[in-house]
Amino acid sequence: EPFVLTDRFGRVHDYIRISITDKCSLRCVYCMPEEGLEFFPDDKVLSKDEIIQLVKNFAALGIKKVRLTGGEPLMRHDILELVEGIASISGIEDIALTTNGLALARLSEKLWNAGLKRINISLDTFEADKYREITRGGNIKQVLKGLEKASQFPFKIKMNVVVIGGQNDNEIIDFLKYSIEHPVNVRFIEFMPIGHTNIERDNEMWKHKYKGVETVFDICETNGWDYKPIDFAGNGPSENYQISGAKGSFGLIHPVSCRFCESCNRLRVTADGYIKSCLYWDDEESIRPYLNDFEAFKAKILHSLDMKPENHEMALAENEKSQFQKPTWRHMSQIGG
Ligand code: GTP
Ligand code: 5AD
Ligand code: SF4
Repeated sequence: EPFVLTDRFGRVHDYIRISITDKCSLRCVYCMPEEGLEFFPDDKVLSKDEIIQLVKNFAALGIKKVRLTGGEPLMRHDILELVEGIASISGIEDIALTTNGLALARLSEKLWNAGLKRINISLDTFEADKYREITRGGNIKQVLKGLEKASQFPFKIKMNVVVIGGQNDNEIIDFLKYSIEHPVNVRFIEFMPIGHTNIERDNEMWKHKYKGVETVFDICETNGWDYKPIDFAGNGPSENYQISGAKGSFGLIHPVSCRFCESCNRLRVTADGYIKSCLYWDDEESIRPYLNDFEAFKAKILHSLDMKPENHEMALAENEKSQFQKPTWRHMSQIGG
């Protein structure tokens, strides 16, 4: 009988997100501190063989979906072997990648051939200057080329847009148009205060976020675009909609307002081999020492699952005046989102 990872609240876990590197080619304002972060030394990061062993163990525990995240996962030189290795593990039905897209022009075809099925690309603006600002130095042409190249293969593509009022909310309309014209699921994401040492800035960003996300429906209405909710199989945290006649769709991800914790199906593994049962939960356990001892591995996973909170503990009350108080110690780029 197949094993099912179920937590105290009856949530079934069949999905792991593995951060395969904490390094990134960008330093997005909502993800990394301005001065950057000191990266883990190489020997602190799980090797390809360790990650493949990890996924084998998870597959034996009923995990069916794997998402590779970072930092920027395409910065790993062994990314193709990793994807290939994971694709060949029996029980793994779906492999996905969350990327900044910069390397996709070069790697899309190889990733397809290695067995990758889905790609989520982060793109918060279509304007070159703004892109450089948000990513602290990125070249938008490179992402657009990557996106175009990826579109030539049968990947399921999603786009991640973190909406910040006054920064990119004026472009929501362009992203909606993009979803009309391209077979892509464009998701508007609410900013999350994670791992920032700068709480004041988080509070400032938070003040500017609501407006942006809520405007999406207004914009559809102003433009006379009819939209209706759609459901895709296993659609994770995104609430999805489609404008009538569109090739693609759009989605809203409200992690702080937390509309999806009750259906959470995921566990996370950090690049240095710690299991995180929840994005916002600081308690973690290293599983690196147990990769080759399945019973010990299983016990650790069950223990982490047992600690998994019902909801995230975001120090934010219902009213918008409340302030974030407690940063998680790991930065977003060290967890993988
Ligand atoms: P799929 O459902 O596999 O397509 O992935 P996804 O949409 O969850 O993945 P992606 O890496 O593209 O993440 C999109 C956004 O959702 C990011 O901002 C993530 O941080 C956020 N997110 C994903 N999973 C969770 C979660 O369990 N909790 C919270 N709070 N946010 C999440
Ligand atoms: N809040 C919301 N989303 C974030 N991401 C990174 N940092 C944050 C944050 N603080 C998004 C990125 C990427 C995904 C993995 O998470 O845009 O697409
Ligand atoms: Fe890198 Fe992603 Fe963070 Fe941007 S959001 S700095 S691409 S890890």
